Formats: sequence, C-alpha cells, structure tokens
Amino acid sequence: MQIAFIGAGNVGAPLAAHLAEAGHAVTLAESRAASDTVARALGRSPRLRALPLAEAVEAADVVVLATPFSTLATLLPPLADRLAGKVVVDCTNPVGPGLRHGLHSERSGSAFVQDLLPAARVVKAFSIYGFENLEDSTWAGAPPAMLFCGDDAPAKAATADLIRACGFEPVDVGGLAQALHLEHMTLLWIRMVRAGGHSPHLAWAVLRAA
Ligand SMILES: NC(=O)c1ccc[n+]([C@@H]2O[C@H](COP(=O)([O-])OP(=O)(O)OC[C@H]3O[C@@H](n4cnc5c(N)ncnc54)[C@H](OP(=O)(O)O)[C@@H]3O)[C@@H](O)[C@H]2O)c1
Repeated sequence: MQIAFIGAGNVGAPLAAHLAEAGHAVTLAESRAASDTVARALGRSPRLRALPLAEAVEAADVVVLATPFSTLATLLPPLADRLAGKVVVDCTNPVGPGLRHGLHSERSGSAFVQDLLPAARVVKAFSIYGFENLEDSTWAGAPPAMLFCGDDAPAKAATADLIRACGFEPVDVGGLAQALHLEHMTLLWIRMVRAGGHSPHLAWAVLRAA
C-alpha cells in the first residue's frame, strides 16, 4: 500500500518505520523546505523516503495525519481535493488546557477533520496511547488492543491491516461518531500516565469469554 505521513514526530516516525519495514511504500510529507523531524525519521528505516507534501499525498492510498491538532484548520483545506476518496487515518487528539477535551467534548477532532475533508474516508486510529507504545511493536503475550472507528468499511479494513502491522490487535468500535469516546479514552490514558504515575507502556486489552 502507498502510505503518506503528514507529521513525522513522536507519533508519525515510529508508525511510518513499522509500516515501511512491513513492506508498505511509505513517504514522509515535507511541508516545509527542511524538517528536522522528517530528517530524523528517515534515519529509522532505509525504506522510508520524503516527498513534498502535495506529491506525497497525491501518490498515496492512505494518508496518516500526525501533526498537532491546532495545525489542521489551515493544513487540511488546501488538500481537500487531493484527499477526496482517500483513506485518511487521523491520529490527532484535541487536548485542551487542564488535559480536557480541546473541543469541549461537543464534537470529536475526527468529526472536525471530516468536515474539513468532506470527500475523504476518515478513520480514527493510533490515537489512544502515548507515543511510547507506538515505538514497541512486540509485546509479551497477546498484542494490546488498538481501538479505531470510521464510517467506511473498506477504509477500516485497510486501517486494521496497518494496525496489525504495527503490532496491535485492531478493535473496530463503530462509526466515526465513536471518535469522541476514543478521544476521552485518550484523555484517561494521558491523565493516568502523564499525571497519575502509571507506566507509559500501559495498554488496553479486549478479553472475550469463550
Ligand atoms: N505524543 C503522543 O504521545 C501522542 C500519542 C497519540 C496521538 N498524538 C497526537 O498525534 C499528533 C502528533 O503528535 P506528536 O507528539 O507526534 O507531535 P510532534 O512530535 O511535535 O510532531 C509533529 C509533527 O508534525 C509536523 N508539523 C507541525 N506543524 C505542521 C504543519 N503546520 N504542517 C505540516 N506538518 C507540521 C512536525 O514537523 P516539523 O518538525 O517540521 O515541525 C512534526 O513532524 C498530535 O495531534 C497528538 O495529539 C500524540
């Protein structure tokens, strides 16, 4: 699969490297002339390459959003036509002051993304943990759960494959309307780990009775 990452920092860099090493054609979009994070991320895998933003997006089947949420309102509208019909994996989280929901829990960040990209097939994924858990692709015992949601079934199936390639069990929690609840789950994780003293390698598992 052709995958473009917009954002190659704490979140984008490890995911891009895992997916490149799993055999996908992964590009890191350069939105400015020189990006330190893109340069550092390229060092993670010889299979990664960088392309200017428009070219990276044009060539991709799947575009992963991994920039600060505050960038999206200006970053995405010029890309809306190019992203029409593509799978857009939204890893961003609107986190507001005091570790509260950045959109006052009135709507999800992913709904905000979908509004900016009306013809894209938005899936929220890779958002419920801190970056530490994205670095590790191997876990003792069963893989941890990666909850994801979206309205387009083929887009979700493609995303589930990417989640598996990054070492997680994909757990489809429903339509994009569930994104608000995933974002609150993220806030729970952040509050537990960043403020509450839990390990950053805390992850969730889904257990099913036989
Ligand atoms: N950190 C976590 O633990 C974590 C976990 C899950 C989800 N998230 C979410 O994932 C997103 C990324 O977080 P992060 O920690 O990876 O951030 P980060 O380390 O600061 O990396 C941000 C990336 O976005 C790029 N970027 C910044 N402004 C941009 C713009 N206007 N246009 C294009 N690219 C831009 C940066 O490029 P330059 O270096 O060139 O500026 C960098 O590659 C956030 O929405 C965050 O809420 C974070």
